[in-house]
Amino acid sequence: MRPNFYQMPLQTEIARRRTFAIIAHPDAGKTTLTEKLLLFGGAIQVAGAVKSNKIKKTATSDFMEIEKQRGISVATSVMGFDYNGLKINILDTPGHQDFAEDTYRTLTAVDSVIVVIDVAKGVEPQTEKLVQVCRMRDTPIIVFINKLDRVGKDAFDLLDEVEEKLGLNVRPLSWPIGMGKDFKGVYNLYENNLVLYEPNSKESNKVEITDLSDPTVDKLLYKQAQVLRDEVELINGVYEPFDKEEYLSGQLSPVFFGSAINNFGVKELLNCFIDIAPTPRPTKTAERVVQPDEDVFTGFIFKIHANMDPKHRDRIAFLRINSGVFLRGNNYLHVRSGKKLKFSSPTAFMADKKDVVDEAFPGDIVGLHDTGTFVIGDTLTEGEMLHFRGIPSFSPEMFKYVENGDPMKAKQLWKGVDQLMDEGVAQLFTTATGRKVIGTVGQLQFEVIEYRLKHEYGATCIWEPLSMYKACWITSDNKAKHDEFKKVNGQFMAKDKHNRDVYLANSEFRLNMERQNFPEISFHFTSEF
Ligand code: G4P
Repeated sequence: MRPNFYQMPLQTEIARRRTFAIIAHPDAGKTTLTEKLLLFGGAIQVAGAVKSNKIKKTATSDFMEIEKQRGISVATSVMGFDYNGLKINILDTPGHQDFAEDTYRTLTAVDSVIVVIDVAKGVEPQTEKLVQVCRMRDTPIIVFINKLDRVGKDAFDLLDEVEEKLGLNVRPLSWPIGMGKDFKGVYNLYENNLVLYEPNSKESNKVEITDLSDPTVDKLLYKQAQVLRDEVELINGVYEPFDKEEYLSGQLSPVFFGSAINNFGVKELLNCFIDIAPTPRPTKTAERVVQPDEDVFTGFIFKIHANMDPKHRDRIAFLRINSGVFLRGNNYLHVRSGKKLKFSSPTAFMADKKDVVDEAFPGDIVGLHDTGTFVIGDTLTEGEMLHFRGIPSFSPEMFKYVENGDPMKAKQLWKGVDQLMDEGVAQLFTTATGRKVIGTVGQLQFEVIEYRLKHEYGATCIWEPLSMYKACWITSDNKAKHDEFKKVNGQFMAKDKHNRDVYLANSEFRLNMERQNFPEISFHFTSEF
C-alpha cells in the first residue's frame, strides 16, 4: 500500500512515463543528441554537461581512464527529466562494442529506442547488432539520421539501406532539403511545416504552410522547392501513411533527419517522440505477463555497476520498476534467494545527479546499494514468485582459459571471477575437465577483468589462449541423442553458470557439420530459449 502522501493515481504516473535508450554505432552522435534532448528538457543548462561515456579508442590500454569513464557512465546511466508534463528517462548505453552485452541488457529495460545513423556512414555494424536485439523484443524504434550539415548518402538510398540492413519498415516523417553546404532544412511531414536550417539556433525557425504548393515554399527554397515537391510525392507514393499502432508494435519505424550538433531537427524529433512513444509496456515473466498498472510492485535488475573505489567494493544494482509502486523502506521479496530485502536509500537519477527517492513508478529506474546480493536478471516482488524473461546472454566469440597466478590468492580470484560474472562483465564456462573458460565479445573485457581482479580482489589471473569460434547452448527432446552428442564432442563440452550444456565450437565448419550430423539437437545462440 502506498502511504497517504501520494498525489496522483498510479495510472496517471504510468501515462506520464517514457523510458527509452538512444543507440548508435560509436561517433554517430548519440552523446550529442542526448545532450540536446536534456537541454530542451531544461535538465541541463549548458552544452558539454553530459560527458561521453564511450571508451575512447586511444584509451584501450589506459585502465585508469577506463575506470574513470566507467565512473562517468554510472552518473549518466539514467538521465531523467520532465518535459511538457511527462517524465522522460533516457538510459545510456556504452558506445564501445566490447561492452555490447551491457547495451543489450539495458535494452531490456526500455520501452522504445531512438537509433542514430550518420548520414555519411549509413548503417554500421554496431547499429545492426543493436537493432537486431530490439527486433527480438518488438521494441518500437524511431530512426534519426544525423549530420545533415555534411554531405552524405542520398536520402532515398539511406532509407533502402535501413530497410535492408536493419530489417525495418520505415516511414519518413521529415525530409531533408539538400545537405552539406546546400542544406536548407527539413519538411516536417508529421506537422506539415517547413523547418529552416539555422546552425545552433535554440528555437526552430518554423514556417507554417498550407501544403507544398504554397508559394512561400518557392520564395524560401527557390530551385530546391520543386525537388522537394517531387521527392515528397515520391515518398507518399512509395511509403504507407504513418500508423502509430504499427510503430507501437515494433513493425514500422518513423524516420527523422537533422543535425544534432547544430540542434537542428531535435525538437521535432522530441515533439513527435512524446506524442507517439509508448508508456511502460507489459513485461513477460516465466510465469505470466505483468501489466504496469497492477497494484503490487514488481521489478528486475538489469545492470550492476561496481564501485570505482577499491576500498568500497559495493555496487549499484539498477532496478527497473515494472508494476505498482516501489517504496523506500518497504520489505520486498528477492525471488532468487527467497529473502526479504529493505532499501533505505534507493536513488533516482535526474540528468547528471542522483537523489534518494521515496517512491518510484513503472518505467522508472532506481539504483540500489548492493553488497553482492544481486545478479543480473533478479526479480523483486511483494511476495509473488516471478522470474522476468528477456535478459539473454549472447554467444561469446572470444575465449580464454583463466588460471590462478598466485597460489596464496586462489579464494580471492574465484570469488572475484564469480562476482564479475554476476555483474555481467563476461561469461564463465567450466569444461568437463574442470577448467574455467571466460567468453567475451571483445578483447577489452579480458583487460578489464584482469585489472579489476588485481585492484579489487588482490588476485592475479593468467590467461591461456583458446582458439574457439563460438559457444552455443544445446538442448534436445531426445535424451539419447543429446548424450551421444556430448560423448562425441566431449572435449568441446562445457557447463555455463546455471549448469546448462554448452558446446564450444572450434570452427564455423565444425559447427555446421555437427548441426547436420545431429538434426535432433537445437543449437541456441542466446542463453534464453
Ligand atoms: P557518439 O556518442 O555516438 O559516439 O557520438 P558523439 O555525440 O560523441 O559525436 C561524435 C562526433 O560527431 C563528435 O565530434 C560530434 O561533435 C560530431 N557530431 C555530432 N552531431 C553532429 C552533426 O550533426 N554534424 C556534425 N558535423 N558533427 C556532429 P568529435 O570531433 O569526435 O568530438 P568533439 O570533439 O566534437 O566532442
